Amino acid sequence: TSSPPMACEDMATLLPLLWLLAAADGMPDPARRDLLMREEASRQTGGRTTLTAAEQKLDARLRRLKEQEMSAASFPPAVHFFKAKSLIQESSVFKVLQKMPKGAALHIHSSSLVGVDWLVKNVTYRPNCYVCYTWDNSVRFVFSSRQPFPRWDCFYWQLVQTLRDKTGDPAGFDYSLMQHLTLFTEDPDGEYPNQDVVWEKFEKAFIAAAGLITHAPVLRDYLYQGLQELHDDNILYLELRSGLSKTYELDGTVHDKVWTLKLFQEVTQKFIKDHPDFFGARIIISVKAAIKEAIQLQRDFPAVVSGFDMVGREDSGRTLWYFREALSLPAELGATLPYFFHAGETDDEGTEVDQNILDALLFDTKRIGHGYALAHHPLAKELSRQRNVAVELCPISNQVLKLVSDLRNHPAAVLMSEGHPLVISSDDPSLFGTTGLSYDFYQAFVGIGGLKANLGTLKELALNSIRYSSLPAHEKDVAQAAWQRKWDAFVSNYS
Ligand SMILES: *[C@@H]1O[C@H](CO)[C@@H](O)[C@H](O)[C@H]1NC(C)=O
Ligand SMILES: [Zn+2]
Repeated sequence: TSSPPMACEDMATLLPLLWLLAAADGMPDPARRDLLMREEASRQTGGRTTLTAAEQKLDARLRRLKEQEMSAASFPPAVHFFKAKSLIQESSVFKVLQKMPKGAALHIHSSSLVGVDWLVKNVTYRPNCYVCYTWDNSVRFVFSSRQPFPRWDCFYWQLVQTLRDKTGDPAGFDYSLMQHLTLFTEDPDGEYPNQDVVWEKFEKAFIAAAGLITHAPVLRDYLYQGLQELHDDNILYLELRSGLSKTYELDGTVHDKVWTLKLFQEVTQKFIKDHPDFFGARIIISVKAAIKEAIQLQRDFPAVVSGFDMVGREDSGRTLWYFREALSLPAELGATLPYFFHAGETDDEGTEVDQNILDALLFDTKRIGHGYALAHHPLAKELSRQRNVAVELCPISNQVLKLVSDLRNHPAAVLMSEGHPLVISSDDPSLFGTTGLSYDFYQAFVGIGGLKANLGTLKELALNSIRYSSLPAHEKDVAQAAWQRKWDAFVSNYS
């Protein structure tokens, strides 16, 4: 007979365990059984974390609350988030998670950073805001000091204020605008029967928001508001994926990427001044293949630019391997441009896109965006673990974009149970109707992790977000110390 090959490391930990399984006469020894269970539990995310007495108390409380939720008639992680959202808001576990210092948000896209309520209730109420409906009934916005010119997709621009007054139903009008800017709906299954339909709406919403957000004065307030929403959810640091779009003024003046980057830096500094317990924010430049520009920006703004990512829907876009020449440029030029690739955001096994994960690792990615497919790539999984390439898990995004319906079946359950490097993020909060990270933490903690995920898991996930950030080592230490103070205060509040 032959046995499967095994890495030496696994062998070393397995030998004494194999001995525990050795045949006994009659009933297995309960003490051995106990040992095996503890050994297995220790492998999960946070499984080796030792909890203080106060933490143990909170842990026991969370477990009781979670048990109640799991036995309730409707279990939120099992239903579509758009239907589960109000249930989650009522959840006692969720309320604890909101108060919990969650560390950093490492995977959020700039165009969906801020809730649509604010976009509509604040931004579209500003003067000089024009709207236009295209032939396929999506909307465009533009700020202009005079009647905007017709464009190929937009012939008839109206002032939002005029139109709102004309309808006689401002609340209904605002609601209809919001529907254009988010995927959130009461009937997700009816409106989004498949991945193509939901992605089409996704892209329309992006375009609709762009006209508002790329107006320079709006962008300034938008970024501030985005940091505010994260800070309100007890998050202390952000790495924002952004294409650094050009921004425009009322008179049509256009600012370039450098201007936008400087604005981002300025707003972050202002926010830290107003909220000294906020640690900061950096940008991961996310565009299709503008590598040379990204190299230059990273060189010029090393404290703000973390690195580079390619964005768009993987399933219909080009693969990383297709861009191999461009992606090799930094190395050829002797430049450093850390990569933070989206990879494996797919449920189609064996396709080219499915192979993106290995290619991402080949190009030395620092983290993997989504990595939904990682659990069934044994080699890629091993490499990512050994090289500490964390997976950015965004559960609600995966559910809304139809990779998984019941989050208990999310493949990251495997990753969590074996302590794979993981961080939790929200991807496109405004499109999914979330703010901050608490909703995604809830799904990971209650749905994906199940009953075995505990306070140690949460603590490890929060610490991971700092550990796997792009911050230089000394800044990580400072951020972690700041997080620890918040964490201790949070825990002692419950004892
Ligand atoms: C919009 O927000 C900005 C700052 O975020 C604030 O100064 C302004 O008063 C708000 N405007 C409206 C119409 O709510
Ligand atoms: Zn993303």
